[in-house]
Amino acid sequence: MPKPKSTSAKAVKGKLEQFAIAILAAGKGTRLKSRRPKVLHEIAGQSLLAHVVAAAIQVVPPQSIFAIIGYEAERVREALTPSGINFVLQREQRGTGHAIMEARDSLQGFETVLVLSGDVPLIRSETIVQVRDFHAAHSAAMTILTAEPENPTGYGRVLRKLKKGIETDEVERIIEQKALRGREAECREVNSGIYAFATKPLYKHIGGLTTDNAHGEYYLTDMAALLGKAGEKVVALRASDSNEVLGVNTRLDLAQLDARLRDKKARELMEAGVTIFRPETCDIDADVQIGTDTVIEPFVQLIGRTKIGADCRIRSYSVITNCEIGDGVLVRPGCILEDSVVRNGAQLGPYSHLRPGSDIGEGAHVGNFVETKKARLGKGSKANHLTYLGDSNVGENVNVGAGTITCNYDGVNKHQTVIDDGAFIGSDATLVAPVRIGRGAYVGAASCITEDVPDDALAIGRGRQVTKQGWAAERRAKIKKTGS
Ligand code: UD1
Ligand code: CA
Repeated sequence: MPKPKSTSAKAVKGKLEQFAIAILAAGKGTRLKSRRPKVLHEIAGQSLLAHVVAAAIQVVPPQSIFAIIGYEAERVREALTPSGINFVLQREQRGTGHAIMEARDSLQGFETVLVLSGDVPLIRSETIVQVRDFHAAHSAAMTILTAEPENPTGYGRVLRKLKKGIETDEVERIIEQKALRGREAECREVNSGIYAFATKPLYKHIGGLTTDNAHGEYYLTDMAALLGKAGEKVVALRASDSNEVLGVNTRLDLAQLDARLRDKKARELMEAGVTIFRPETCDIDADVQIGTDTVIEPFVQLIGRTKIGADCRIRSYSVITNCEIGDGVLVRPGCILEDSVVRNGAQLGPYSHLRPGSDIGEGAHVGNFVETKKARLGKGSKANHLTYLGDSNVGENVNVGAGTITCNYDGVNKHQTVIDDGAFIGSDATLVAPVRIGRGAYVGAASCITEDVPDDALAIGRGRQVTKQGWAAERRAKIKKTGS
């Protein structure tokens, strides 16, 4: 998606007081058959409403944006509060027209209000600006953004006025799908649910809406005919890309729009020099950043604010959430990384699990079935096999042997394990925290370490081996003779 041109953003800025954006977001979303409000369902890792708000915020500041909420209003409000937008409560959901009636106090102070739908999430800021400019150029009372999608079923149809048999910019009325009669059904131009209104005529005539329709609701779409009859100008603008105004009403719509956004993100990354094999199998969230010449293998998920450097290879089935990964990092198959930092040239996996707060140093190795949590691993250190490092601070060039476990939890509190530079931890050691292994120290294999180990010392904490010569042969002979 190209970024909005700064000129249009500036042009809008000059008119702030005159221009508000209202987002219809009060509906339940019955067709999703969900307990969650429709606008909080997610595509490409973000709620539908968050997508719409992100586009709106590029056009006007958050204090000029009003989300009209109703069904599960508090959940929606809570989810969107960080954006800084305003909320208007539509207590009963009596239709899109009713939603705008309920927002009267918030909106009538603005000259123009642009209405967006919380369930039309692919809308771009450039298109919002286009609608605003078209509306202004026509001095219209209402401007309707329309489209001609492949399948118009389910959408309201926009009937334009004809002049000598030729279509004009002006609109006669909008007819909802259920009310289409005869040849009206042949009309392929649909209402996107996105409009600009001059607020004066809008609120002068909105009282004329009735509930005389299939759903017994106040339809905002009826404003087209109502304003027309009052002698006001109602115009339509066709979106250049009909996909941009696709609405989400069903789970199938949700999946299709998600795929569309994922596809777009993958294309952008590929254009910027990232290799993605089988991109249709990868889920890459909108905010993810990836450096050039990094290779993403099939079935990878990159979630949230993940940032990956250049020349990395992320192998299949890895799921990386909110991580910062340096340059030249190799993530072997099946790694799960969350809220962690991985520095240049490090190697992970297969099947490593970095839990939040892990920091893997430059050139460090974390291997098969190794789990880390709030653990720093210094430059060049290695924990290659079957290990748990929790609440640990591991220095540089440390070797953590196979099966090493930090016992960080005493049932009540978590404690720190410190392993200083150059230490060598033998396989199957248990390090009972709080404990410190000194610089260059050795821990014997299978040791249970409960006391600090000084620099350059060797600590062994295990029972001595006892070897009984001939014991096994004697036992076998005895069994053969007595039968037990
Ligand atoms: C609406 C339009 C239809 C258009 C389509 C485009 C009407 C009557 N019809 O139909 O012409 O083609 O959008 O996607 O407007 N909402 C409220 N309060 C309510 C009812 C709905 O805030 O009382 C919100 C919903 O949460 C949703 C939006 O308004 O975000 C649209 O409502 P929805 O019921 O999905 O309308 P459609 O049937 O899709
Ligand atoms: Ca809809």
